[in-house]
Amino acid sequence: MYPLALTIALFVGVTTAHQNFHQLWVNGVTPGYQVGIRMPPSNNPVTDVTSNDITCNVNGSKVPSGIATVAVKAGDTIQVQWDSSTHPGPITHMLYGPVSDASMATGVGSWTKIDEQDYVNGKWANEIMEAVNMTHEFRLPSSLASGDYLLRSEMLALHGSQTLGGAQFYIGCAQIRVTGPGGSCSPSIQLPGAYKATDNNIYISNFYYGFDPTTYTAPGGPVATCGESGGGPSSAKLATTSTLDVKSSSTGKPMTTTSTSKVTTTLVTSKTTSAGTTSTVTGTVGKYGQCGGTGYVGPTACVAGTTCAKQNEYYAQCL
Ligand SMILES: *[C@@H]1O[C@H](CO)[C@@H](O)[C@H](O)[C@H]1NC(C)=O
Ligand SMILES: *[C@@H]1O[C@H](CO)[C@@H](O)[C@H](O)[C@H]1NC(C)=O
Repeated sequence: MYPLALTIALFVGVTTAHQNFHQLWVNGVTPGYQVGIRMPPSNNPVTDVTSNDITCNVNGSKVPSGIATVAVKAGDTIQVQWDSSTHPGPITHMLYGPVSDASMATGVGSWTKIDEQDYVNGKWANEIMEAVNMTHEFRLPSSLASGDYLLRSEMLALHGSQTLGGAQFYIGCAQIRVTGPGGSCSPSIQLPGAYKATDNNIYISNFYYGFDPTTYTAPGGPVATCGESGGGPSSAKLATTSTLDVKSSSTGKPMTTTSTSKVTTTLVTSKTTSAGTTSTVTGTVGKYGQCGGTGYVGPTACVAGTTCAKQNEYYAQCL
C-alpha cells in the first residue's frame, strides 16, 4: 500500500519516542515537577556504556549540581514518573551513597541496585508503567544509613538491542537525603564499569527471533541485600507520618512542603509469605498496588484476577 520508504518512516516514527524521568513522589507526596532531579539536556538515550554519562545521563556528573535534595526516610515508598515509552525493556533503581552532600556527588563510582522490574506476566516494565500513567513504585530499603544519596532510575530500551551498541539507556538521577537506622547494602557495582556493550542483557542478537523475555534480567547484577542494624518496629500500632522537606542546595534556603501522609496502618499479625512480606493486614490491594516486601505492613490480598508478584526483597505488586 504505502511506498517502502514511507512505511519505514512511519514505523520509525512510532518507535523513536524518547523519555526522561521527570518527577518523584515520596509516600504519595511530590516535591514538584522535575524538583530534585538532575534533568539531562535532552531526552536522548545514552548508548556508550563506558562513558560517565551512564551514571546520571549527559552532564549528570557535573557538581555542584544546583539541584534540590529531597528528604526521605529509609523504607519510604518512592514513585517515579517517566515520559511515555513504547520501548520494550526493564526499569531499575540504584543508590549511590551515603555522602555528606548529594549536590556535590558525581555518581561516578559505587552503586547498589535496590529495585528491578523486567518482564512480568507477559509485559515489559515499560508496558506495566504505561498502564499506570508511566509510574513505577518501589520501597527504599528499611536499613539504610542516614546521609545523602543519588537515586538513579534507569529505563533500558531494548528495541535496538539486536545491534551491538543499539541498546538505549534512559537515565535520571534524583538527590535524596535519607534518615535511616543504619545498615548497608551489598553487592555494589561500578558505574561506569559494570556494564559491557556485549553483555547478554544489553546486546541481544536474537531479540526479535527466538529470544525468551521471561529469562531476562536487567544489567547491574542482582538487587542488593541490605543488612538491618536497628531492627524493625515492634509495636502493634505503626503510625507513619511523612514530612517532605526540600532544601535548595543552590541557595541554601529551605523551601518546605510539609504534608502528613495518608498511611496509617495497623499491624495485625506477623508472618512471612511467599512474596516476602512480613505482615498481614485485612483488605484488598488493587491491580499494580503494593502487596508485599520487607517492612511492608499493608494488605497482601490482591483484587480478583491478579496475583501478588514479587519484584524484589522490598517490593511485590498485584499483577
Ligand atoms: C555539558 O556541560 C558542558 C560544560 O558546562 C557544556 O559545555 C556542554 O554543552 C554540556 N553538554 C550538553 C549536551 O548540554
Ligand atoms: C498522569 O500524570 C500526569 C503528570 O503527573 C498528571 O497530570 C495526570 O493527572 C496523571 N493522570 C492520571 C490519570 O493520574
